[in-house]
Amino acid sequence: MKVAKVVLKDAEKMKSLLLEQGMLNCNFLPSTDSEHIYFPLLEDELPDYVEIVEREMQAKQKKVTVDDLMSEFLSKEEMQLIPRSQEMIGDILILEIPDQLIYKEKEIADAYLKSSHTAKVVVKKTAIHSGQFRTRGVEVLAGEDRKETTHLESGVRLFMNIEETYFSARLGNERLRIAKLVKPNEEILVMFSGCAPYPLVLARHTEASKIVGIELNFQAHTFAIMNRDMSKEFYTRVPLINGDVRVEVPRLKEKFDRVLMPLPKTSEEFLDVALPVVKSGGIIHLYSFLNEKDIVNEGQNILDLCEEMGFEVELINTVKCGQHAPYVFRVCYDIKVY
Ligand SMILES: C[S@@+](CC[C@H](N)C(=O)[O-])C[C@H]1O[C@@H](n2cnc3c(N)ncnc32)[C@H](O)[C@@H]1O
Repeated sequence: MKVAKVVLKDAEKMKSLLLEQGMLNCNFLPSTDSEHIYFPLLEDELPDYVEIVEREMQAKQKKVTVDDLMSEFLSKEEMQLIPRSQEMIGDILILEIPDQLIYKEKEIADAYLKSSHTAKVVVKKTAIHSGQFRTRGVEVLAGEDRKETTHLESGVRLFMNIEETYFSARLGNERLRIAKLVKPNEEILVMFSGCAPYPLVLARHTEASKIVGIELNFQAHTFAIMNRDMSKEFYTRVPLINGDVRVEVPRLKEKFDRVLMPLPKTSEEFLDVALPVVKSGGIIHLYSFLNEKDIVNEGQNILDLCEEMGFEVELINTVKCGQHAPYVFRVCYDIKVY
């Protein structure tokens, strides 16, 4: 085929020019010898500012997609049953396999493993998040036989076993949203802190002076300590406590500028613990899972509940921060306490 013969020192400049003029044949790979690089060309119009020679070139391998691989053993209808977006925690890909396709689950997992650049393990969910610790069951289907991984979020490393602690990679943007609200020297309480994603992302991205995390699940707390201690700068700013917030919060005998309550479904049950430790003018971020039609009413219910407990509050923001199921959202109520 016709290629442009370019001295090595001009490689970048010439590549940009050929690309800009639409003359580079991107279906083939460039090749080199000791002094030159050879750029494959589209043959309809050849550049007149470079030496053109004939040379055998290697075609680029077309990237094999997961759909290409699955189409070898699943029908179109079966492929449509597989959710389009799969969750990835560190290098573990978490598949949701519909019941009708369980008989092909290993092949499906292999297809995901082969077509992914980053996944080293593919698991399927065997049980949804449940129980007091909000943990879930997973089973390894392909790749390395492990459930531990290190997830990188907003410059923070989070090591965990994905079956022993709750963690959702989909909350990364929400954690950054909260970080943007934090002012210098704030003191923050993160109830239900898990393996410490909120405390550590806030520590990395804000000038808060202290971020206390409280977590009941000892395994999750142990990962939190490991994650915090990976970075010296977090050690003194992020005290982490293993215990029940109902017992540990009153024991702190402290007030906070901001209290996070990331325990959707039952956060409201802990408002009596959170409200007394918020400084005047401070904020509570309370999370809930709600059907779209109930979001406004639930906001009012929460305000009524706070007022019944004798606290003057104002709902300053209601944020949808993820979809949980059709029409069901994870919602954060930002509540100012006077
Ligand atoms: C939905 S998870 C959130 C974990 C973490 N904040 C995150 O975003 O990954 C809720 C966490 O609250 C913990 N938890 C439940 N009840 C608790 C309590 N009474 N006191 C402290 N932690 C509790 C669970 O073990 C679980 O790790």
